[in-house]
Amino acid sequence: MRAAPGTPTRRAELAAAVELLSAAGIPTARVDAEWLLAAVLGVGRFQAQLDLDRALPAPVATRYATAVRRRARREPLQQILGWEAFRGLRLRVTADVLVPRPETETLVEWALGLLPARRDGVRLRALDLGTGSGAIACALAAERGDVEVIASDVSQAAAVVARENARRLGLAGRVRVVVADLAGALGRARADLIVSNPPYLPSVLVGGLEPEIRCHEPRLALDGGDDGLAVIRQIVVSTREALRPSAPLVLETAGGDQADAVAGILRAAGFGSVAVRADLAGVDRFVAGRA
Ligand SMILES: C[S@@+](CC[C@H](N)C(=O)[O-])C[C@H]1O[C@@H](n2cnc3c(N)ncnc32)[C@H](O)[C@@H]1O
Repeated sequence: MRAAPGTPTRRAELAAAVELLSAAGIPTARVDAEWLLAAVLGVGRFQAQLDLDRALPAPVATRYATAVRRRARREPLQQILGWEAFRGLRLRVTADVLVPRPETETLVEWALGLLPARRDGVRLRALDLGTGSGAIACALAAERGDVEVIASDVSQAAAVVARENARRLGLAGRVRVVVADLAGALGRARADLIVSNPPYLPSVLVGGLEPEIRCHEPRLALDGGDDGLAVIRQIVVSTREALRPSAPLVLETAGGDQADAVAGILRAAGFGSVAVRADLAGVDRFVAGRA
């Protein structure tokens, strides 16, 4: 239905949203405004671009204005939408978890490649340490039907989100979410793979991050202590005994020098076959070693 004269159109509301978001300093103003319009219309982003001259009914326009104002206050787009895509899965995200990042998809790719073949009829056991939304755990379980994943996080609130994601994706039978510190979730069991995207930023850098991250994502997910390596050092110590012989530990790092430092920490702790891999931007970012 074309808009009656004087009634706001989708095009006009979209243009106003782009202007507001641009004025708020958001470099992705147009794309974000389109995503938010699609969300309030309940359609896909490209479908929302069709029929831009249609009227935007008042209740929808009100919801759109609310969503755009939230984004203008630099709330992350994904927290407003309530979801993010990760390796083909749609994951619920809230302010209690880190928004899964595209580079972590490459971490999962490497972890999948390092997983051994299934032992006679017995499921392999992987630990996703610091699971947040459950992104890594759910992707591993979705892509390898012979793996059960323990998804652990020290944050109770994050565990609630991870558990909900596993359930919504039909993976709850093979993704067990546990609130635990470091590798404690394994108890006396041994893992065939431990993967982690830990907090790795030096504390001093956290205050200088974009407001979306600094003000809206959990500090516990970001802050890696004075040199950014505090949690990684603890993970390396706690996972050494938690892995089966020659099973891999795969870590995401801040990249560059930190990746080299983490490789050194792994070697010093007795891990073998230590290797570094680049992300899609060519930055050395992921580090793996075998117990
Ligand atoms: C960078 S986020 C990663 C979240 C998710 N794995 C991802 O890749 O999107 C790090 C996560 O580690 C958790 N964490 C921090 N310290 C921890 C610890 N000592 N033991 C277990 N989890 C921890 C945080 O709560 C946070 O959810």
